[in-house]
Amino acid sequence: MPEVTRLTPQDWSALRAVRLAALVDSPHAFASTLARETAFTEADWRSWPSRHAVFAALVDGTPVGLAAGAPDPAGLELVSLWLAPGHRGGGLADGLVAAVVGRAGELGVDTVTAWVWEHNARAHRFYDRLGFAPTGRGEPNPAHRDQLEVELALPVPGPAR
Ligand SMILES: CC(C)(COP(=O)(O)OP(=O)(O)OC[C@H]1O[C@@H](n2cnc3c(N)ncnc32)[C@H](O)[C@@H]1OP(=O)(O)O)[C@@H](O)C(=O)NCCC(=O)NCCS
Repeated sequence: MPEVTRLTPQDWSALRAVRLAALVDSPHAFASTLARETAFTEADWRSWPSRHAVFAALVDGTPVGLAAGAPDPAGLELVSLWLAPGHRGGGLADGLVAAVVGRAGELGVDTVTAWVWEHNARAHRFYDRLGFAPTGRGEPNPAHRDQLEVELALPVPGPAR
């Protein structure tokens, strides 16, 4: 049964495995590189879920996807969204985004942002379906300076907003 769960520092080994799989599969989708993160220590991996809300999509207990919410000046930034190719198209990525948006609601922030490579057509279609819209900001990807990334934003639903 698929589920989305929040990871803790104790889950560092599973987190490492799924994140490195993402960097192997989608090297242009992220503001980092496989070489950089392969060099991370156990302490590095443990520190990520202690600083940010990190969620994994599990299928029969095995992590097949990842997303995290990192505080930024506009609210919460959705980072590291990835689903293993064999599990795409089934709604699991919606659950990962919903977990980050839920965390934004808990924190009382009103916007979730995401940066996407301008040519990542599938991700753009996905974010568009969920209601993300371009903010007009664009910047080179810090790990791939020849790639332009554009910022998208989603208003967080909430009772007081
Ligand atoms: C982005 C990602 C998490 C989305 O999850 P997913 O399960 O693939 O998403 P969905 O299938 O629900 O939605 C993708 C949409 O793109 C469409 N699509 C599929 N292939 C496409 C393509 N080559 N070009 C344009 N649209 C495409 C799908 O039809 C779907 O649209 P629809 O809902 O209107 O039918 C997943 O594709 C992924 O992990 N990609 C690689 C990593 C990545 O790009 N991460 C985002 C970093 S910002």
